[in-house]
Amino acid sequence: MAAQTKVRKAVLPVAGFGTRVLPGTKVVAKELLNVVDRPILSYIVAEARAAGIEHFVFVTGRGKAAIEDYFDHHVELEAALESKGKTALLNEIRTELPRPGEMSFVRQMQPLGLGHAVWCARDIVGDEPFAVMLPDMIMAAARPALGQLVDAHARTGGNLILVEPVPEAEVHKYGVVAPDPTRPRQGAVIPISGMVEKPPVGTAPSNLYVNGRYILQPEIFGLLADQTAGAGGEIQLTDAMARLMASQPFHAVELDGHTHDCGDKIGLLRANVAMALARPDLGAAAREAIEELLG
Ligand code: G1P
Repeated sequence: MAAQTKVRKAVLPVAGFGTRVLPGTKVVAKELLNVVDRPILSYIVAEARAAGIEHFVFVTGRGKAAIEDYFDHHVELEAALESKGKTALLNEIRTELPRPGEMSFVRQMQPLGLGHAVWCARDIVGDEPFAVMLPDMIMAAARPALGQLVDAHARTGGNLILVEPVPEAEVHKYGVVAPDPTRPRQGAVIPISGMVEKPPVGTAPSNLYVNGRYILQPEIFGLLADQTAGAGGEIQLTDAMARLMASQPFHAVELDGHTHDCGDKIGLLRANVAMALARPDLGAAAREAIEELLG
């Protein structure tokens, strides 16, 4: 395992088609769909920064160039806001910009699966522990979700996976971990002895699903290099992690918070409602509008 323990880099796989929220995602990257007034990615990058991430590796694909544009200066827009005196909006836009060199973009040239997407980032990540953040999952948490993993990693080292309970009927949609019966849970940190990708209902080893934040050791890349296709005919990150468990410690951390799956129609709707209600500037008006619609 890498001697360095600080998690500095995050890999964000953003090459997916967003099939569950078509037709909008035919022309707009799923990760750029607005939740209230900002793209999903904006929430994920803010969460990463709060956890101390210093470098972002986006694994992109065809039709995703707007993601690079979002994190770049928009000279005409900034000039227009400035000349109209819209300083607050201008500052908000500029605050989100990365420092020069803080973001890398690499293409996943074929949609071969999440494991393959993460493998595409290997040269940019190098020999150090790194985070993976699935950018369609917005996490509502008092303590930023990735920060919860980073804190646990400082105590346990090794590899960590954020998890959350899910109803039995939904386990088949996700990766699910198997808690190790021989080692006790310590608070939110759960030693695990296995994991499985999209288990059929009735066969899952627990109700704790993998909700999209990981801290992994660089040895995962060697395993991803020869990982064969698994569930759905795709190269699965879960399968490579299950192999890495033979030689390295793995823990699950139960999220103190709640995940909104924005890759799903209702999940995206819920994220919009939840984020609007939580906003000091919009919460009251959002509640009034929702009550009116329901009433
Ligand atoms: C991926 C992972 C799965 C995880 C899920 C969370 O699946 O493979 O383990 O539970 O993300 O959204 P996908 O949604 O890409 O099928």
